[in-house]
Amino acid sequence: MKGKFITFEGCEGSGKSTQIRLLCEYLDERNIPYICTREPGGSKVAERIREIILDKDNAEMGDECEALLYAAAREQHLKDIVIPALNAGKLVICDRYIDSSLAYQGVARGLGTDYVEKINHHAVADYSPDLTVFLNIAPDEAFLRKHGADKNDRMELQGLAFHRKVYGGYLSLLKKYARIRPVECGGTKFETHEKIVALLKDEGLIN
Ligand code: TYD
Repeated sequence: MKGKFITFEGCEGSGKSTQIRLLCEYLDERNIPYICTREPGGSKVAERIREIILDKDNAEMGDECEALLYAAAREQHLKDIVIPALNAGKLVICDRYIDSSLAYQGVARGLGTDYVEKINHHAVADYSPDLTVFLNIAPDEAFLRKHGADKNDRMELQGLAFHRKVYGGYLSLLKKYARIRPVECGGTKFETHEKIVALLKDEGLIN
């Protein structure tokens, strides 16, 4: 693959969307070729799978089914969007990827990270991110910042105890994978943006 693959991770309300938007503006201003996409979703079929996963009326969905649907959406999105962009030499900015499954389904749902790795093995093939930006803010603080959960989103409605487990999951992934880089986001959104740009420059992913 010729392009570089950058993923963003973090708890709900960590400011991922804002930071991704600021980064895209930065890339636009410098005419750096990139695409910005998201999981679950990002392509036609994957967006349909997203609707099923996040629909709050699907309260009876089992944890395994949930994990398999995320993996299915990932495989489709990778093939439709990510791989062609990487082959075209573009920078790919993706809002969430396999680390979300490891933290949410592996740790918070309790399926185990080995199980989640296994079911994602074929979905991700050898498409590992070159760098993963982890927006490091505890869910207690993040929820306060975004004024509570989105009542129409099955995952956001899981409650604080669940999201604390997700955060714990991310902290253990940080220790395991050197590609995951924590960015402290206690300051303003512009300060956090500066940190992200500095990190990507240090790693030679942008200039
Ligand atoms: P989204 O509205 O995109 O949330 P956010 O803005 O916080 O990224 O919804 C995605 C939800 O799906 C979010 O709660 C995280 C969850 N998720 C998983 O549980 N496992 C996964 O593999 C992925 C990609 C997302």
